Amino acid sequence: MFRSHRITILAGDGIGPEVMAEALRVLEAVESQFGFTVTRTEHLVGGAALDATGHPLPPETVEACENAQAILFGSVGGPKWETFPPDLQPERGALLPLRKHFGLFANLRPGVCLPALTHASPVKQELIAEGFDVLCVRELTGGVYFGSPKGRHEVDGQPVALDTMIYHKSEIERIARVAFTAALGRKKRLLSVDKANVLASSVLWRETMLEISKEFPEVELSHMYVDNAAMQLIKRPGSFDVLVTENLFGDILSDEMAMISGSLGMLPSASLGKQREDGLYFGLYEPSGGSAPDIAGQFVANPIAQILSLAMLLRFSLGEIPAAEAIEKAVAKAIADGFRTGDIATSQPGETKVGTRGMGDAILARL
Ligand code: IPM
Ligand code: MG
Repeated sequence: MFRSHRITILAGDGIGPEVMAEALRVLEAVESQFGFTVTRTEHLVGGAALDATGHPLPPETVEACENAQAILFGSVGGPKWETFPPDLQPERGALLPLRKHFGLFANLRPGVCLPALTHASPVKQELIAEGFDVLCVRELTGGVYFGSPKGRHEVDGQPVALDTMIYHKSEIERIARVAFTAALGRKKRLLSVDKANVLASSVLWRETMLEISKEFPEVELSHMYVDNAAMQLIKRPGSFDVLVTENLFGDILSDEMAMISGSLGMLPSASLGKQREDGLYFGLYEPSGGSAPDIAGQFVANPIAQILSLAMLLRFSLGEIPAAEAIEKAVAKAIADGFRTGDIATSQPGETKVGTRGMGDAILARL
């Protein structure tokens, strides 16, 4: 049976459109190779949308996403829009509302240091040589990002600003189940990261993780405070498997994980809602890095995070597993064969330095 799918492309700002172009070339190649079609509609988001329509998330963009099975997202933001009111800024006015609107509470960020890339990692060679392959499961629609009250006012003649870190038990339960399930498919070890020695929300987090662990007796659950986790990631990167944590801690730790892997430009992410009966998810897929305005327009950005995000989309939202695996293999092969964008170049023998398009070509040739 011929399979047809529908996705929405939101390339956004900065390097977003440049790396997206490479992901779309890869999509075209797997469509014909694996016999399915993906109807894609491209829409404005972020600064590009703000400039064109006065809002970073126009209603027609939201509507297009509602009519699709998944969103392939580039990146948003840049210095040009930093002076806009917070709710109109690309990050707070577009990306966070999209996550909330679609209930994308589970953010999967795989941090993997490919064997050929250990030299690109800032971690000592003898430590990274043990391997680094961690899945960060970040809660994405709760915690201090969205808690209310939030805001700024005057008290006794001076400005006061506040944010609220709040979790409902049900929010912790559902992310716990995603993380335990992910651990089942890996080494069956789950590390829950919190700050239960200080924060009430973390005490509830830990309690709930323990409770849900009874549903997954094969998975070994352990706990770590977030400050210690930040340290252990650098000290013993090879000792981690699956890590689950709340929104802000996950934001911080996943950047650390990305750097340990070699470059932010390597890491994809999937933001998923509730699993449907057919086993698939509505999801938003984006590189873990940002819009990199400093190198935008030069076509030197690493497109791998965007291309691997496409692979995650094929796997989790479209169920096109062989195509997803083929893309992941082609990326690993291009790296093993020495192709390097600037962010992962280390002047080791056998490296070929390429730009965005050159990396796309190298991957396409290996599909
Ligand atoms: C991320 C980003 C976002 C976040 C920003 C752009 C709002 O840093 O996806 O990690 O903080 O979640
Ligand atoms: Mg971040």
